[in-house]
Amino acid sequence: MHFGIRRLSEWLLFPPKRVGANRLRAAVSGKQILITGASYGIGEELAYLLANAGAEVLLVARTAGKLQEVQRQIVGRGGRAYIFPADLSDKQQAIAVAQHVLQLWGGADVVVSNAGKSICRPLHESLDRMHDFERSMAINYFGPVQLLLALLPALEKRKAHIINISAINVLLAPAPHWAAYQSSKTAFDQWFRSASAEWMAVGMHVTSVYLPLVRTRMIAPTVAYATMPAMQSRQAAIRIARAICHQPLKVAPWWLVWGQLGSLLFHNVFYRFLARYLKQQPYARQSANTV
Ligand SMILES: NC(=O)c1ccc[n+]([C@@H]2O[C@H](COP(=O)([O-])OP(=O)(O)OC[C@H]3O[C@@H](n4cnc5c(N)ncnc54)[C@H](OP(=O)(O)O)[C@@H]3O)[C@@H](O)[C@H]2O)c1
Repeated sequence: MHFGIRRLSEWLLFPPKRVGANRLRAAVSGKQILITGASYGIGEELAYLLANAGAEVLLVARTAGKLQEVQRQIVGRGGRAYIFPADLSDKQQAIAVAQHVLQLWGGADVVVSNAGKSICRPLHESLDRMHDFERSMAINYFGPVQLLLALLPALEKRKAHIINISAINVLLAPAPHWAAYQSSKTAFDQWFRSASAEWMAVGMHVTSVYLPLVRTRMIAPTVAYATMPAMQSRQAAIRIARAICHQPLKVAPWWLVWGQLGSLLFHNVFYRFLARYLKQQPYARQSANTV
């Protein structure tokens, strides 16, 4: 896509949002905020944004060196940041994160469940890769479930705000090649929405943030995305920061509802079109030859 057209589409699809410095400071100053997946991308941007506004942040991810770098930057600007390197796809480590939160703060005012992993791979290339599906479920579903279960009593006491960083795809017709990612993100979205009313009943706050394509390292391996319109990670972080200020149940692009309607009305046409498109791809012809 031509650069100018891409920029215009980005402006229309993801209009730049702002979060007032005073508004954000009033909402987060002195608050204790856990951010998972804070070493890169959206989580890293969010860590800077919240810490600059006076929040005390605890940053979790696997890459200890990168977490230290983010912490150094925050502390260098006079902010307060703690780090806890952990692999959230491991049940014991997810529990250890929760225990650390309890020791450090006794709970948290806001939890941003952002750590995640995506995989784009056709099924015919996944025949001996059951681990793709297991790993996706481990980090995108079981990890955050375990973390939240272990923290729940403390979060209840604080009437905390829990935010799930989800993807628009979970509300649209699922696209081919993304089965591992989309099913695991959908599983957690369903779990989270199912839990939402229970949490709200005890005074907690919940927000599901449905993000479109965001230009981070996550989408870098998918060549087709290089020239597609995508939101900047700073803009995604601003949308999450606004959610912390306003506590809506849901944050989504303005056009998502039309996408959902289209998914419903044109379900059959969409999959027939996709099947025809995929049939023309080299791997599809190869598979067809072997059948
Ligand atoms: N980028 C997009 O287009 C897009 C669109 C919709 C939704 N999202 C969602 O946004 C969230 C953030 O993604 P991003 O785009 O910022 O990707 P990213 O730059 O790759 O960041 C992902 C973060 O998750 C952490 N992480 C991954 N596996 C982990 C594990 N097993 N344990 C602990 N931390 C782990 C990573 O840190 P380490 O590698 O250091 O562990 C990193 O900090 C994800 O939940 C993603 O599904 C992204």
